[in-house]
Amino acid sequence: MTHSHNLAPAALVIFGITGDLAHRKLLPALYHLAEDDLLPEGFEIIGVTRSGTTVDTLLDDIRAKVQASDETCDESVLKKFGERIRILTIDLSKIDEYAKLKEELDQHEMRVGACTNRLFYLSVPSQTFGSIAEMLGRAGLTKGCVHRTGESRLLIEKPFGYDLVSAQELIETLNHEFSEDQIYRVDHYLAKETAQNILTFRFNNPLFKTVWDSNAINSVMVTATESIGIEGRVAFYEQTGALRDIIQSHLLQLLALVTMEQPKQMDSDAIHAEKLALLRAIKPIAPDKVAEQAVRGQYAGYLDEVHNHSSTTETYAALRLEINTPRWRHVPILLRTGKAMADKVTEITLTFKDGEDAHQNTLTLRIQPNEGISIQLQAKKPGFDSESETVQMDFCYALTGDGVHPDAYERVLVDALRGDKTLFATSDEVIAAWEVVEQVIHAWSMSSDGIETYPQGSWGPKAAEKLAEDAGAAWLSQHLHICQVHSFGKETSS
Ligand code: BG6
Repeated sequence: MTHSHNLAPAALVIFGITGDLAHRKLLPALYHLAEDDLLPEGFEIIGVTRSGTTVDTLLDDIRAKVQASDETCDESVLKKFGERIRILTIDLSKIDEYAKLKEELDQHEMRVGACTNRLFYLSVPSQTFGSIAEMLGRAGLTKGCVHRTGESRLLIEKPFGYDLVSAQELIETLNHEFSEDQIYRVDHYLAKETAQNILTFRFNNPLFKTVWDSNAINSVMVTATESIGIEGRVAFYEQTGALRDIIQSHLLQLLALVTMEQPKQMDSDAIHAEKLALLRAIKPIAPDKVAEQAVRGQYAGYLDEVHNHSSTTETYAALRLEINTPRWRHVPILLRTGKAMADKVTEITLTFKDGEDAHQNTLTLRIQPNEGISIQLQAKKPGFDSESETVQMDFCYALTGDGVHPDAYERVLVDALRGDKTLFATSDEVIAAWEVVEQVIHAWSMSSDGIETYPQGSWGPKAAEKLAEDAGAAWLSQHLHICQVHSFGKETSS
């Protein structure tokens, strides 16, 4: 198990310390790591902001966030945590200002008395990634400390680019300053405990390993719905939309985990190699198939919320895909995501073929909430008749183990601190994923045809039901009640 003294001393520079991600995810995750004594000795946070803030404001924010998830905030931990934070108010577009950052980092190393790792977390709009990386380079901050022993790492958040071309450009721009090894592309869905379990479940259980292919499986469905809307993030969401925000990244990554071949060994390089092979084997949706294979929708009220009555940004997207490998040929793959939906659910369902009769088995990997695995089986209905009925068998995380369930961002931060890239996306994976959706993005940007308005709190556009039906499948979440035990404390509903 990771312990604070296994980790080299480090400075974490968060660009955008007053922003949404820092407030919702990064700062609460760092507080929890401090609480569990998982931060390295000599660890400091440099919170970079343009407009200014105070450590006390950030601590108040963390306290409120922790208490909102029904946890007690430990005031002594919070106070000590506050002592690790420094605020730096600078204008990121001016090269001279980066000297102040360098000065802070040098002072941190003087205090620690050693060269430290330097992690630059860009929690700012992705359009600024290129220029910040360039300035870091010009300020001599990309190479670690003067003695070259500490490493310099760049953490960035998706979407990595806006489409295929801009993603390629971003990779090139960043590579001028940082090598691929130094770049950590965060996909926090990969860091969710249950997403990490996918490979273990698939490859350590002979019972399932032997039936994980097109001979037995009828369809694969990946769902990530949220009950919240866009929560005031108008500028970000208007230029992103559901396809870029969730499908191009989180859902294609989850799909890769559930459908890739077994890696030669369970290390980062081998896992990434198989994941990439799988992503490259997904047939990109062709321009003339977009209407048939892609569905988009907008929740009622969205246009008013963004003050733009001609917005064509989708808040819901569903795709039907095909994977061109012997294991998956002709198996329909369905992905869907949406905001303002009936429930917050992330899950993967495999439907097993019915044989002679109309019966089916389904296996659901529930990523969140009510984390677990559920199998729907046929069983004889108790009684004198010989009817069968569908019953459900659940494995629930909340009922097992010692309760160590780090939140996804805790895992992201610890892995970045220890330099483990298994759960981060590589540049090749990012490009392969853009290739899958490129023509859909293009077609959707050219016309508003087919955008269906769906009621808030519903399960989304009717057209998506049809997409599943045509694939011989049905979305399950609305009928499946799994592991409705109290889920572990740290899971945030965001
Ligand atoms: C982010 C998206 O990647 O994931 C957000 O940009 C979304 O729009 C969030 O709300 C959901 O994450 P989680 O962990 O709460 O399911």
